[in-house]
Amino acid sequence: MQSMNQFRLVDNDPVEAAGAAPLVRLRGVGKVFPGRRRGQASVEALCPTDLDIRHGEFLTIVGPSGCGKSTLLSMIAGLMAPSSGELTIGDALVEGPHPGLGIVFQKDLLLPWRTALDNVLIQAEVRGLSRKVHTARAMKLLELVGLGGFEGFYPHELSGGMRQRVGICRALLHDPSLLLMDEPFAALDAITRDQIAVDFQNFWQSDKRTVVFITHNIAEAVFLGDRVLVMTARPGQIADVIDIDLPRPRRLTLREAPEFTRYTAHVRDVFIKHGVLRG
Ligand SMILES: Nc1ncnc2c1ncn2[C@@H]1O[C@H](COP(=O)(O)OP(=O)(O)OP(=O)(O)O)[C@@H](O)[C@H]1O
Ligand SMILES: [Mg+2]
Repeated sequence: MQSMNQFRLVDNDPVEAAGAAPLVRLRGVGKVFPGRRRGQASVEALCPTDLDIRHGEFLTIVGPSGCGKSTLLSMIAGLMAPSSGELTIGDALVEGPHPGLGIVFQKDLLLPWRTALDNVLIQAEVRGLSRKVHTARAMKLLELVGLGGFEGFYPHELSGGMRQRVGICRALLHDPSLLLMDEPFAALDAITRDQIAVDFQNFWQSDKRTVVFITHNIAEAVFLGDRVLVMTARPGQIADVIDIDLPRPRRLTLREAPEFTRYTAHVRDVFIKHGVLRG
């Protein structure tokens, strides 16, 4: 039996990424929400956090509800300003929403009166990009995620998994360097969720874009991630960052393999140690 300390645990010390400049850098990035009314206590959602996100990596973030995962993602997206610290993407300080990002949320947020293709093309419209040029790319993306032939279908004619795939295509239409995904598969049934995870991994392998993927699901985090960032309960802190040294493409049967369950057990033990789970 492999002991726990044989896992290559990566300290989230910034020097760890020395050599290759990271795509995203957080230094002391924290968030405190002020009380809504006078006298109401403020809420510290995220403790000051240091983190480097590498170019082309698939980083998964797993943590309990309310630990600041969405807050962290919103700050990276430039949708919310940190209360402290410095956040950069490439060389640029994140000071507001920026164009090189794609975001996928838990709900597909498709417009019901638009076809799958037209929902993907919203991304071009809001960015003032050529619809003509992007139609071909949208069709290609829909094909790649297994929706070839469904471009003319309306959301109510698609399953939940298919709608979420449309949402992924919409997030990728403008070819963002960074894809942020906030529990994108959480609303799906277990079988669809497993399938979309495999398919998305295969897609990502051919695409190699930097992905930050939030989930509550330990197995999903290990299955998809190059690294798994484990967070504690609010105020969120990084409890551990684990390198997942499992070859790709990863197949569903891997989930029963001892090398896989050792990682999931490790994440669970981190949660137990920090009082997130009771064993
Ligand atoms: N806009 C806001 N104003 C005030 N408090 C907020 C705001 N957004 C989040 N919070 C608080 O910050 C904490 C973290 O919220 P966040 O949504 O980031 O958690 P989470 O880890 O994404 O949770 P979940 O897994 O349930 O989605 C919570 O206590 C929440 O109430
Ligand atoms: Mg959330």
